[in-house]
Amino acid sequence: MTMHNYAQHSKFADTIRKMQAAETNGSELYFVLIYLAKELGLHDLADAMLKNACEDSLHGGMYGAMLGKGKESEEELWKQAVKLYRVEASAEESLRKMAEEMRAAGEPQLADCVESTIAEENEHARRLKAVFDAHGIAYEKSWHSYKKEYENDRRRNHQRVSCNVGQFPRTRYHNAEKPWNNRRERRSGKTWSKARHTMFFHR
Ligand SMILES: [Fe+2]
Ligand SMILES: [Fe+2]
Repeated sequence: MTMHNYAQHSKFADTIRKMQAAETNGSELYFVLIYLAKELGLHDLADAMLKNACEDSLHGGMYGAMLGKGKESEEELWKQAVKLYRVEASAEESLRKMAEEMRAAGEPQLADCVESTIAEENEHARRLKAVFDAHGIAYEKSWHSYKKEYENDRRRNHQRVSCNVGQFPRTRYHNAEKPWNNRRERRSGKTWSKARHTMFFHR
């Protein structure tokens, strides 16, 4: 039996809520202290607190699940893991940009701190990827989600949603499945306008 959403039918719902807050806040405080201990070179203290912090975080997760956070089915669990993977995998780009802005604004120490997390963020993505591979879980975005994202980007910038194939931003799309390389689809003329050699994204 799953404990997911247990609090809904429990007389101890308030206690569960309090425990969840106490465990997560406690572990958050631990992590702050761990960072400060490391700055002071107190590595043994940091190590001891790290173990406590991880375990308290897990206790918080247990109570969080009882409160109905997250989804209970395996399919949903994989979906959320894939979502997290995408956040981790795309972190480097935004963190570098952030660090650049900070450096340009004359705050190089802050930029260094931000940049120091990049290697680990990439490792988070790699770690998840290895598990997805082992379980045969698809984690790359489909061509259609790239397209949707691209269209939304353009709409946000008040640009035309259609564009020439030659202008298609290769760096973001060259790994995606391209319907114009699929003969059958190309012949059907679904995505390819022969007359203007234009990819047209129908709204
Ligand atoms: Fe705890
Ligand atoms: Fe991360």
